Amino acid sequence: MPLMEALSLRRSTREYASRALPLQSLSDLLWAAYGINRADCGDYTAPYWRHIAVLDVYVAMTDGVWRYSPERHLLMPHLPVDLRAATGLQDFVGTAPVNLIYVAHGDRMHDLTPEQRRLYASVDAAFIGQNVYLYCAGSGLASVFRGAFDEASLAKAMHLGADEFITFTQTVGYPRHAESDHHG
Ligand SMILES: Cc1cc2nc3c(=O)[nH]c(=O)nc-3n(C[C@H](O)[C@H](O)[C@H](O)COP(=O)(O)O)c2cc1C
Repeated sequence: MPLMEALSLRRSTREYASRALPLQSLSDLLWAAYGINRADCGDYTAPYWRHIAVLDVYVAMTDGVWRYSPERHLLMPHLPVDLRAATGLQDFVGTAPVNLIYVAHGDRMHDLTPEQRRLYASVDAAFIGQNVYLYCAGSGLASVFRGAFDEASLAKAMHLGADEFITFTQTVGYPRHAESDHHG
């Protein structure tokens, strides 16, 4: 889909079908989000602070939590637990098939105050979030970027390290009306 058309369709959605994403869509989604688009230098589809990669994209699905490895373009198993409901304070997060969690490694951000770390990591996450919105708009998928989650309990449930913090989360799935269309 041309970029201008995807931009005209970009929006936040809060009603999802429970239908899983096909693996190819998940693969394309993650590449669009934060994949490596220049093999020679290993840089990403999203710009990032000071050329230091501080963010990991985690994927919470029914079969557990995975970490996206851009270098290998693979999902690495993180936890075999369905943590979708813990990724937000809104009901749809527990049933939508995919919730992305943008986790920052604070220890990689030297000479910054905690506020600056949060600011720059959040900007990195926001660029990825817009890539996700545009991929979804161009692919018949729905998304919403989210700041409403209980960070302490989600970080604990994900077994994050002391230097890691969660910037934002983002739900992806099929819009609910598409499911009723799908089933006739
Ligand atoms: C930093 C940020 C945090 C957000 N947090 C939430 C959230 O927790 N829950 C939610 O439903 N939408 C959230 N949104 C989505 C906004 O509500 C949405 O983008 C806005 O209402 C405009 O709607 P649109 O995206 O459809 O244009 C967030 C957006 C941003 C940029």
